[in-house]
Amino acid sequence: MKLARTRAELQAALAGAARPLGLVPTMGWLHDGHRSLIERSRRENRATVVSIFVNPRQFGSSEDLARYPRDEARDLAICAAEGVDIVFAPPVEEVYPAGFDTTVSVGAIARPLEGAARPGHFDGVATVVAVLFGLVRAERAYFGQKDAQQVMVIRRMALDLAMATEVLSCPTVREPDGLALSSRNVRLSPEQRAAATVLHRALVAARTLHERGEASGDALRGEMRRVLATEPLARTEYVSCADARTLLELERVEGPALLSLAVLFGTVRLIDNEPLG
Ligand code: PAF
Repeated sequence: MKLARTRAELQAALAGAARPLGLVPTMGWLHDGHRSLIERSRRENRATVVSIFVNPRQFGSSEDLARYPRDEARDLAICAAEGVDIVFAPPVEEVYPAGFDTTVSVGAIARPLEGAARPGHFDGVATVVAVLFGLVRAERAYFGQKDAQQVMVIRRMALDLAMATEVLSCPTVREPDGLALSSRNVRLSPEQRAAATVLHRALVAARTLHERGEASGDALRGEMRRVLATEPLARTEYVSCADARTLLELERVEGPALLSLAVLFGTVRLIDNEPLG
């Protein structure tokens, strides 16, 4: 496995890499969700690049950039064990060199939900992913469905800007009790960790209600709020029952939809989602 710290080292490593190439962009603190992305990339490509970069541009001023968990030695060991060919783990100035002055801003799909709750977040995500796509020029890139809106934003960007990298999304990986794997889970106290199963419980309750025939968006959002309210440590930021293509809130579910929510446990913010139909 080659480790590249600079753009030049990355280009040198890529020169000898087999094609097709898969890219797994990450912010490190790798878990089984990332492992599933790496495994899929390895199945579908002849070489896999993992990027490890905690992107400051996608964190708001009051957000948890400084507290974002980091353990590069552990991440590199996981990549080696998973058979990754190249790890790109650059410092900030290699991704955003002096003079860097471009922001990629995706339109309507980036506005609701996470876009509304975290202003500027998707500009940061789209910009860093555009840089990574440009540097790696992979045939395919793999993202987790837990960040469903992120996948839609990146797809929109790749399509609109005629990027050659195909954007693929992979199923959310969960703990046995339903909690979606996230690098942020490590920051939960034991009590918060136990309480955090409420995200998945709320989604399952709303999905079950829908399966029993309930199509009202308000009723499904209400069901998620009802379940979340049973957990005193959970502070609900939003619940959503939206059109799966536009992410606009639905009055009635009559086609593919996405249930999603964002919940705070102290300062730890967790998101999750569940498709309907
Ligand atoms: O999902 C993430 O870990 C990040 O948003 C990404 C896609 C690596 C961009 O920094």
